[in-house]
Amino acid sequence: MTKRLLLLLTAAILSMQAFADEGMWLPSLVSSRIKDMRSKGFRLSADDIYSINKASMKDAVVLFGRGCTGELVSGEGLLLTNHHCGYGSIQKLSSIDHDYLTYGFWAKSRGEELPCEGLTVDFLVRMEDITDRLADGEDAAAIIGVAEKEGKGYRASTESMYYGNQIFLFVWQRFEDIRLVGTPPSAIGKFGGDTDNWIWPRHTGDFSIFRIYADKDNAPAAYSAENVPYKPKRHFTVSTKGVAEGDFTMIYGFPGNTQEYVISDAVDYIANVSDPMKIALRTRRLDIISAAQASDPHIRIQYAAKHAAIANAWKKWQGEVLGLKRLGTVEKKREYERRFAAWAADKPQYAHLLDSMRAAYGRNREAYYTYELYNETLLTLDLPLMARRAAANGNDMSKYYRDFNPDIDRALAKAMLAEFAARIPEGRMPQALTDKVARYGSTDAYIDYVYDNSKYVDPRTVGEASADDPAAELYDIVMKNYPRGYRARNLSDLKEIRSRYGTYLRALREFDPERAFFPDANLTLRVAYGKVAGYEYADGEYHRHFTTLDGVIAKDNPDIYDYNVPQVLRDIHRKGDYGRSGVTIDGRHTVPVCFLATNHTTGGNSGSPVINGRGELVGINFDRTWRSTMSDIEFDPSVCRNISVDIRYVLFITDKVGGASYLFDEMTLK
Ligand code: ARG
Ligand code: ASP
Repeated sequence: MTKRLLLLLTAAILSMQAFADEGMWLPSLVSSRIKDMRSKGFRLSADDIYSINKASMKDAVVLFGRGCTGELVSGEGLLLTNHHCGYGSIQKLSSIDHDYLTYGFWAKSRGEELPCEGLTVDFLVRMEDITDRLADGEDAAAIIGVAEKEGKGYRASTESMYYGNQIFLFVWQRFEDIRLVGTPPSAIGKFGGDTDNWIWPRHTGDFSIFRIYADKDNAPAAYSAENVPYKPKRHFTVSTKGVAEGDFTMIYGFPGNTQEYVISDAVDYIANVSDPMKIALRTRRLDIISAAQASDPHIRIQYAAKHAAIANAWKKWQGEVLGLKRLGTVEKKREYERRFAAWAADKPQYAHLLDSMRAAYGRNREAYYTYELYNETLLTLDLPLMARRAAANGNDMSKYYRDFNPDIDRALAKAMLAEFAARIPEGRMPQALTDKVARYGSTDAYIDYVYDNSKYVDPRTVGEASADDPAAELYDIVMKNYPRGYRARNLSDLKEIRSRYGTYLRALREFDPERAFFPDANLTLRVAYGKVAGYEYADGEYHRHFTTLDGVIAKDNPDIYDYNVPQVLRDIHRKGDYGRSGVTIDGRHTVPVCFLATNHTTGGNSGSPVINGRGELVGINFDRTWRSTMSDIEFDPSVCRNISVDIRYVLFITDKVGGASYLFDEMTLK
């Protein structure tokens, strides 16, 4: 075989892999993928996924809260999502006497369902490509205004795809009376905690159950005892048959943010500058918080939510850096850009494009770094924020002080101010801060002065605080110097850079016509499809595609908080009392818990329905594996896997732990 032929073959195989399971597709355009989907085991049509003329699957998928997905599983508004998505609402409803986080909650009847103040659920009414209308001079605000008058609770927004090359109108219907129906104890819903987060093998029952209520006309309404369960146009049939390796899976949900098309400069910034900085800063914060938590059980609970939130991204970024290095993403992109530049050289509209993008990165990188540094240091401190919170909330400050410990915050402030001063680029340190540090002698001494003298340290003295309270003063210094103009979800999303990507993406379509382009995630509804699959974790180490209850019990350790299995689950396991959820796997009588698939997902896809080839619900998506975390930037089909809780575990826990099998009567189980 000639070298050339070999090269061609390799290229063909590589591009087939790229086609594999990468991509988050717009539901209204999914017809372009349907042939591929059907060849992989999907039995339904594009119309079943998205239609504006008849009920379709999209009518059973919701944006849950501000950043998760949920799915309807009954004709009476019953909704499933993750435990970690319901967490905030469950925490709000909890008290010492009713500690639903620790013990779980199961309504025994509709009357016992608990209204969740502030929680909303958004249905997509329709989406529409309005690129041409805007080009013809129509006004986006006017289009939105008209759409919002179409129905009760309607909201509309325009979202840009491919860096502005395509603009869509999204019309939503928002429901506001959402009630908690059931949740397992955290020892099931968050089993494995931060230890197992982003890790496979996984044994988490990460689900919670809610119900949407509507007025008597089935329209959205604020909470009222008169409201009735919402009747959705469509709900998912739940399959109790389980999944096998190789089975088709589809994820229908709201992925938040990916950057698949960014150039090597952006990846270099992420992998070599931004992520390492953020990881180091969060390591310091976590060390301080963990030590305090270990010393006092009250602090352990008080700082649990903060710890989890800090640790989630901290851990993800570490996996992301490792993944980008392992894949050599920067080098691969550089090589791709060299070929692109050669191709573009004789095309005047593209010839200088990459150079101009690089220059834009060069101009913005340092200021954006500074912006991120503020976010990860001074803006993480509670005390300086209390002044602003007090101004906004008056006397109702209890929710902030409940999770506030002045000694911990002081220790964090010392560490973060020292890091800020050490890391801030030359010439960007606010003069006022330099003056304060000089006046008190050191960063530590200045922080001691603030925490010793601020009235915001104690909720009982908040009312005595004056405008020149030292914490308010620190907050002022921070906000006066904060590079607000650089607010963007990532460096590449700064206007000056983003605008160049519009041209770059058009150029790429010409340069690389075989590539399957999908718009980066932006919290709009998407379809990802793939199959149930294990993967080779490391040389000689294969990770199978599922876990079982036996694995939960194998991790059981009452001395380790994250692995303390509830007694009820131990008892059920000892008796093997699995009811209809029991299955035989490898000759063992057990219950399936989680499974892996090749779907391309990201933050926001948590709670998404995992759908089989017949359109039935087989699981709820909640995480990715350690080797997958770089998939927001480069998706590697050989190792990227999403993690879902098997729907059979959801039913099993609801029945055997929750005693709420009455809920099955309103579901469509198959
Ligand atoms: N890593 C998952 C996601 O990004 C799950 C996070 C919740 N679980 C946890 N142990 N913090 O949201
Ligand atoms: N755990 C993420 C979420 O909450 C999902 C992911 O990043 O894979 O949306």
